[in-house]
Amino acid sequence: MSTPRAKPKYYLTTPLYYTNGMPHIGHTYSTIVADVIRRYKRMRGFEVFMTTGADEHGVNVERSAQKAGKSPQEFSTEIAVQWKRLWDDLGIPGDEFIRTTDEKHHRTVQWLFKRCRENGFIEKGSYTGQYCVHDNAYVVDAGPGDACPDCGRPTETVTEENYFFKLSEFQQKLLDFYAANPDFIQPESRRNEVLSFVNGGLKNLSITRTTIRWGIPVPGEAPHVFYVWFDALIGYLSAVGGPNYDERGLWPADLHIVGKEIIRFHAVYWPAFLMAADLPLPAQIWAHGWLLFDSEKMSKSRGNVVRPRPIVNALGIEPLRYYLLREIVFGQDGSFSYDALVTRYNGDLANGLGNLASRTLTMIERYFGGEIPKPAPKVGGETDAPSTAEFADEALNKVMHLYDRLSFSLALESIWEIVAMIDKYITVEKPWSLAEKPEDRAHLATVLYTAAEGLRIVAALAHPVLPQATQKIWSQLGQAEPLSGVQLDLLSWGQLKPGTKTGKPEGIFPRVDKSETIARIEAMEQEQNKAPEPPAAATATTPAGPGAAAAPAVAAAAKICIEDFAKVEMRVGLVKTAERVAGADKLLQLQVDIGDEVRQIVAGLALAYKPENLVGRKVVVVTNLQPRKLRGVESNGMIVAASAPDGSPVLAGFLEDVPVGAKLK
Ligand code: MSP
Repeated sequence: MSTPRAKPKYYLTTPLYYTNGMPHIGHTYSTIVADVIRRYKRMRGFEVFMTTGADEHGVNVERSAQKAGKSPQEFSTEIAVQWKRLWDDLGIPGDEFIRTTDEKHHRTVQWLFKRCRENGFIEKGSYTGQYCVHDNAYVVDAGPGDACPDCGRPTETVTEENYFFKLSEFQQKLLDFYAANPDFIQPESRRNEVLSFVNGGLKNLSITRTTIRWGIPVPGEAPHVFYVWFDALIGYLSAVGGPNYDERGLWPADLHIVGKEIIRFHAVYWPAFLMAADLPLPAQIWAHGWLLFDSEKMSKSRGNVVRPRPIVNALGIEPLRYYLLREIVFGQDGSFSYDALVTRYNGDLANGLGNLASRTLTMIERYFGGEIPKPAPKVGGETDAPSTAEFADEALNKVMHLYDRLSFSLALESIWEIVAMIDKYITVEKPWSLAEKPEDRAHLATVLYTAAEGLRIVAALAHPVLPQATQKIWSQLGQAEPLSGVQLDLLSWGQLKPGTKTGKPEGIFPRVDKSETIARIEAMEQEQNKAPEPPAAATATTPAGPGAAAAPAVAAAAKICIEDFAKVEMRVGLVKTAERVAGADKLLQLQVDIGDEVRQIVAGLALAYKPENLVGRKVVVVTNLQPRKLRGVESNGMIVAASAPDGSPVLAGFLEDVPVGAKLK
């Protein structure tokens, strides 16, 4: 007996997310991508380890904590726990969730600093510069008052005594390294960007602060603490052993997945820190693009964030995974739209894969008593199967090649070509007609065998993206071994054994009504955005608005004090105009006079009120809500309504006449 050979190791990471806010689907995208790669690599025979985590130090977290009346540690822990819980709930947990407040991370940062210092790459100096607090980076060449070119926020002038990392000494070493490792930075456009940055010359980098407390102490150098990038990046190493990294055999990382805005830190600073410390360098940094909403990067401050939970509550996580990977070309920016999400769901998943699985399995049950039929032999001994077999075998190699290059969109497109091909084959061969003639029995067996075998290949190939749905199909095809354990290299046409008992066909992706689903997601989103963020901050509970009518019941709110209620500003408004929002059954776009201004408000009233009946009506408006967009239309306030037992909104109003703009107390 031979002992099984150890699997090669593969280590990948997501960015470590800041704990000054909650995740949106931009962050979720990065973590989903990493999870898809993890699952794919496991199916290619690797022992995979994935790290995600929380980047907890820095001024932003310190300030947010202060606002919430908490210590940075307490505040940051509450948020880190929620990030971790979300990844767990969505089925995309890291194998390690590293927190930069972890003791083992502190030790690793201090150790790395010592090595860099002993090797002569650290010096003390004083620095004055324009600093972007949001991006935690000095803005080179900016003057006082200038805005940050990345985020547009004003920069701050900072002077302090710092420890500097001698980045300038690494220009040539980095250029040599990039030349020797042309795949280190992906995609090509980002590689070019980094090359031109490094070619332009590198300045030494300030890596400590004396002005803030919330950071990892520089040993023996109080009050210096390490500052963001010479802290967070090192988390990738802390997660897999830190100073003892060689014991686990996971360092150097094979892949760092990052968003494009942090490529420079990963592709320039990080390899330079590691070179300075004489440590091995990661194999590849892959920068993906941004998810845009209404053509802009999603961000809390712009009020255009989309959260994952409402989508997952309405459709499940798998449709979101599929949509993000199919719709967005990895490496490029992509627009997020609910419309496209539900269209993909109904088209590719419900009508495509789901329907193919259910019709194939139903016919096998009906015509062959739930047993995979034996395909008829061809003259010459081969089966009578049509070109589907060759097509699928070729697709196997092509799809693996595309996954290897992280071309998820093309990989899924190719897999769905197999789905379309089998669908067409079934439509042309009409098994339901073949079933009527005993002389066509052998041909019927071939047709259904071909469909089932095609489905098996599709399930295996799509597994990294749709782990649960494909496992269901796999089991329904009578396959006992877990799909995640299948090795894609060993997969080939014809392995499905005739005579295998199939399971009961079950719907996998039921079709949904587009408008209703989008309205439901938006209502949940609105409900969620009403919740305090960050979670610790005290925020008033607002009265239920019509948009909330369709949301699931929320837990009874805790009692609030009068000061909390006083935070909600409500005024009498007069509806000036009302019209439907295109493509949204429930939404009306209103112009409402609130005394000193006319506000545009989008409200979920359309099923209960005709637009023309609202014009001239006095309503109660919550006027100090953050503006947000519903179906791309900005809504600047909320109309107050009761929720009738059937969930429909009933507008709050007055029996006596009240002037427009009057405040409610
Ligand atoms: N803490 C740093 C990273 C340190 S890594 C050692 C940070 N954190 S972050 O919370 O701002 O997360 C940034 C990452 O979230 C991006 O690099 C990207 O992966 C993801 N995204 C955040 N917004 C995004 C979009 N709108 N679209 C796609 N991904 C985005 O930067």
